[in-house]
Amino acid sequence: MATASSARVVDAQSADSKTTRSTSTGVYTAEQAVRGRDTYAMQCKSCHTPASHTGVTFAQWWDRKPLSELYQFVTTRMPKNEPGSLAPEEYIEVVAYLLKLNEMPSGREELPADSVALKKIRIETGKKDP
Ligand code: HEC
Repeated sequence: MATASSARVVDAQSADSKTTRSTSTGVYTAEQAVRGRDTYAMQCKSCHTPASHTGVTFAQWWDRKPLSELYQFVTTRMPKNEPGSLAPEEYIEVVAYLLKLNEMPSGREELPADSVALKKIRIETGKKDP
């Protein structure tokens, strides 16, 4: 009996850690964001500036949404003139770069190019609605 109930506690904890994390917990690596910056410079800068994805604009689009939505948006809609033209790894690197631009911390694990995993990470900009 005692073993059964302690097993349940362990299960509950690991299930919990797999549910929602936020982007303030270090969900991408610094190297990934550096590669994303290069990709961004080549593929995205013709229409955007990095600063345009920060602050209130970024918060209005993405605050409190799952990271999978941002990933899906860029993979299916960007670059506007040629959507879907980048590799999944390039898109996820660019997403890591966007998080870095918004002063979210890097960590030890790379952000995966996997919508299911990204659904469990919530974007937290720390910016309140105006
Ligand atoms: C040909 C011009 C063009 C290119 C190239 C382009 N974008 Fe966009 N982007 C737009 C337009 C226009 C919008 C406004 C929303 C819409 O019309 O879909 C937008 C909106 C966005 C948004 C949502 C608003 C924001 O700033 O958070 C993101 C994120 C974004 N683009 C990322 C990218 C990324 C990443 C790339 C490179 C892979 C890229 N864009 C390349 C034109 C472009």
